[in-house]
Amino acid sequence: MGILQDKQILLIVSGGIAAYKALELIRLLRSAGAEVRCVLTEGGAHFVTPLSLSALSEHKVYTDLWSLTDEAEMGHIRLSREADLIVVAPASADLIAKMANGFANDLASTVLLASDKPILIAPAMNPQMWNNPATQANIGVLRARGVRQIGPNAGDMACGETGWGRMSEPAEILEAIEAALGPKKLAGLKALVTSGPTFEAIDPVRFIGNRSSGKQGHAIAAALQEAGALVTLITGPVALPDPAGVKTVHIESAAEMLAACEKALPADIAVFAAAVSDWRAAKPQTKKIKKSGGKTAPEINLTENPDILRTIAGLKKGRPRLVIGFAAETDDLEKNAKAKLKSKGCDWIVANAVGPDAKGREKAFGADENHVTLFTRSASEEWPRASKQAIAAKLVERITQEFGRHDTSQKRRPGKRQ
Ligand code: PMT
Repeated sequence: MGILQDKQILLIVSGGIAAYKALELIRLLRSAGAEVRCVLTEGGAHFVTPLSLSALSEHKVYTDLWSLTDEAEMGHIRLSREADLIVVAPASADLIAKMANGFANDLASTVLLASDKPILIAPAMNPQMWNNPATQANIGVLRARGVRQIGPNAGDMACGETGWGRMSEPAEILEAIEAALGPKKLAGLKALVTSGPTFEAIDPVRFIGNRSSGKQGHAIAAALQEAGALVTLITGPVALPDPAGVKTVHIESAAEMLAACEKALPADIAVFAAAVSDWRAAKPQTKKIKKSGGKTAPEINLTENPDILRTIAGLKKGRPRLVIGFAAETDDLEKNAKAKLKSKGCDWIVANAVGPDAKGREKAFGADENHVTLFTRSASEEWPRASKQAIAAKLVERITQEFGRHDTSQKRRPGKRQ
């Protein structure tokens, strides 16, 4: 019997050309044994008809918050509570904004607000709308509340533009639904993730830092948590909300990050996605350094920071069973990543190119997407450029395989010391 057998899915179809893909999604869900009920928004009804949805789901389609008949038959509260999972596909910018801000002015937004069930959204919209800071802020709010997200993908859009905003394909959404309702593959395992930059004080107001936004590390922490792991995220200063269900420790400097990592042990999995400053001021000043009339610039003596990844990977006792480092490279990606894999003593390295692309846009730092190559001790695999959430999901899938292949008892561990 499949994961979706007899599961109740409430599918909310909002306005967008991708609404036609909801029809195929219903078919896939039904073939997998799920029961599907649909809510169609006013916008959604411009793209698909209630008749098509009800013909495929073999249930009445709900459209109106104020329908006495619907309320008598099912009621929006029951509709929101009876599902095992609520799937919003497509999730328009408008419905995402309503969800983030707690609106309840139509049936879809009311059902979502009244629900205590897990929610998966499949955003679909024009790339500019997706990239708009308002949409990104709303998405951040939803992620922090534990709302799952699949896509969007990049590609040609119906509006003639190209970019991120295409809804994921029905088969991909089906996989995400199965992952949301399936067994938690990393249940019982502890994970430690570092994310964001470190700030190294020069004086009380200045610091040495870098452009890491924490998007990649936070996405990995959230994906590990969704897979059932007990996650501690140790993050430098970022503008992101703490991921839902993840114990998040906020630090500033590399020394604080190392101390927090040591405190978070023991862990089965450790992922070091933070951009840790290699150096710090040898003697941070206790008072703000003053300009000296433009004659002499102050000299700042630097000293090397502890290497957190190398320290944890080199532990004789209590080393996590799978230690994954990152490598941020402006050139010679493969050579440098392989060298780091060896010198840092980790099991895997996820390497990403950093610096401006041909159009002058930063490739990884602060970006929403990433293009990575995974180096293990015996092989490498280049993954296509994708959203940082998709990269995180893929990394978690690889981690799951690694643990699934091996006895998860403390006696054996994936990595070099098998
Ligand atoms: O945060 P985002 O904006 O989403 O960007 C993501 C990212 C580009 C920061 C991320 O994908 C990434 O590449 N992180 C590692 C950045 C880095 O510092 O790489 P590195 O090649 O300098 O370091 C190699 C590894 O050693 C990393 O795992 C790093 O966390 C670790 N390290 C480095 C120095 C140090 N003192 N201690 C460490 O643990």
